[in-house]
Amino acid sequence: MQPDTQHDKPFQLTMTVLMTPDKANFSGNVHGGTILKYLDEVAYACASRYAGSYVVTLSVDQVIFRQPVHVGELVTFLASVNYTGNTSMEIGVKVMTENIRDKTRRHTNSSFFTMVAIGSDGKALTVPPLDPQTPEEKRRFQQGQERRQIRRELEARYKALKKQL
Ligand SMILES: CC(C)(COP(=O)(O)OP(=O)(O)OC[C@H]1O[C@@H](n2cnc3c(N)ncnc32)[C@H](O)[C@@H]1OP(=O)(O)O)[C@@H](O)C(=O)NCCC(=O)NCCS
Repeated sequence: MQPDTQHDKPFQLTMTVLMTPDKANFSGNVHGGTILKYLDEVAYACASRYAGSYVVTLSVDQVIFRQPVHVGELVTFLASVNYTGNTSMEIGVKVMTENIRDKTRRHTNSSFFTMVAIGSDGKALTVPPLDPQTPEEKRRFQQGQERRQIRRELEARYKALKKQL
């Protein structure tokens, strides 16, 4: 398992992993936790390479496993820095799963990670501002900004709910 750093833009990263039998759960499909671990790793690598620093995971948005991933399939994680704040970055990861025998591909899930750059003093570090160029990059930036707002609203609602207990 190696990130493909040759063909991606500096804010993108692709990683492909073969789902070997050791990744199976009790039903014989790939364990959800295995996919979560790879998602976090690819988000880390994408954010750290972009920021040029160590990064930590601040949050992970809702992850929905739409379809099972089977042992023997090839899973590709397509990561991209969608949005940058001052010290935080939203990393979007799209998961494509390929049956290597019949060559069919399907989109099995997507998720959004918020990663924060950390300096050698252990404090949050300013990241290079993202400069979206293409219509797709601009759309992702805009939507990343909106999701940042939604996260804040959601956190406020969760806090209010906790107070009711
Ligand atoms: C991420 C962390 C360094 C942020 O620390 P902090 O003291 O809140 O730092 P700051 O106030 O400077 O915030 C840093 C960034 O995080 C964002 N942030 C912090 N708390 C947030 C929250 N609750 N919701 C959304 N964003 C938040 C801030 O907006 C800021 O982003 P910006 O600069 O782009 O605006 C700290 O919370 C931490 O170390 N968390 C643990 C991370 C970790 O170990 N992850 C792995 C878990 S096993």
